[in-house]
Amino acid sequence: MSNFSSPVLQPVTIGDLQLKNRIVMAPMTRSRADNFGVLPDYAADYYAQRAGAGLIVTEATNISAEARGYPRTPGIWSEAQVAAWKHVTDAVHRRDGKIFLQLWHTGRMSHPDMLAGALPVAPSAIKPHGQIRVHDGMKDFVTPRALRTDEIPAIVEDYRRAAANAKRAGFDGVEIHSANNYLLEQFVRDSTNRRIDQYGGSLENRLRFPLEVVKAVLSVWDAKRVGIRISPTTTAPGDTALDSDTMGTFSAYVDALSALDLLYIHDIEGVTQLSREADEGISFAALRRRFSGAYIGNNQYTLALAEKTLAAGDADLFSIGRPFIANPDLIDRLRNNAPLAEAPKEYWYGGDARGYSDWPAMQAEIAAAA
Ligand SMILES: Cc1cc2nc3c(=O)[nH]c(=O)nc-3n(C[C@H](O)[C@H](O)[C@H](O)COP(=O)(O)O)c2cc1C
Repeated sequence: MSNFSSPVLQPVTIGDLQLKNRIVMAPMTRSRADNFGVLPDYAADYYAQRAGAGLIVTEATNISAEARGYPRTPGIWSEAQVAAWKHVTDAVHRRDGKIFLQLWHTGRMSHPDMLAGALPVAPSAIKPHGQIRVHDGMKDFVTPRALRTDEIPAIVEDYRRAAANAKRAGFDGVEIHSANNYLLEQFVRDSTNRRIDQYGGSLENRLRFPLEVVKAVLSVWDAKRVGIRISPTTTAPGDTALDSDTMGTFSAYVDALSALDLLYIHDIEGVTQLSREADEGISFAALRRRFSGAYIGNNQYTLALAEKTLAAGDADLFSIGRPFIANPDLIDRLRNNAPLAEAPKEYWYGGDARGYSDWPAMQAEIAAAA
């Protein structure tokens, strides 16, 4: 049975953006940029092939050289990076797609190997659990350096400049990455923010830096072209809750974001990639109801789960990550109830066009098999 009439696959307007359907391609780091953070030409093919999504959110993109945490991730601070992204946005727009850039600072989730020997920066000097992938494999995390109060305005300015560069690169909007325990979330959560200045301590103080970043981005973009990603219940790094009062913290955060009239919140429901379960007392639907704009649900969504969630009124859009890797025409496949290809993990990060921009579309696959 086909799914042509699925409400999830019908056009929808959010803010002033007309989307082809309610499926968003989730941001996915694919580590194909060069060591200067410049994407190769075939990245334009990769994104354009996936322009059937209602909206594409790009892989996380470093706002500055100091923001980097992982090898071969793209940036948006140099002219060469802006030019490479312009190829991408042009290619997506030629296929009538919409694309937002995800703005990223990794904070403590980095390593001196990625920062010319410098220590990663964070709200407080608290080492993440586990290891990080650097140029030559996995290494233990190090204890980051706590940012001085007088260093913070320069990072806010880096976000503003990155947002302005995204505009010059032809994006339809930007998504601020405040999820997965990168810099913004490190400020929000009380386990990673032990500051005693105006950026730590009370909940209001812990939200100050992320909200300054949002306001800097809003000095460049209309609020209806700005979304933000949050992951209230994602535990990594480590396996325990990262905040002593997840619902209280994120309710206040969502209220403040709502007051700023942003286009959407993009919520990773559960633990990224691993589970949709959340601890008792945590309700994604309750967070969604506090927010005035659109709500994008993410994590292990299938078309059936998206339909059920839409019918319940618990989300407006649904972002899908992993299935987009090997199914450039995922929307056509969902419409036709066609089988989905699966990408081996070795293609996720690093390498070249192979396993990235060379996945065949459904018709080509059928013809090749005939
Ligand atoms: C290869 C890969 C790279 C990812 N990179 C990012 C990223 O750059 N930014 C981000 O916010 N999430 C990133 N994620 C998380 C996804 O956006 C998404 O939250 C996760 O895959 C769960 O959705 P899914 O079940 O539809 O795949 C990544 C996930 C994968 C598999």
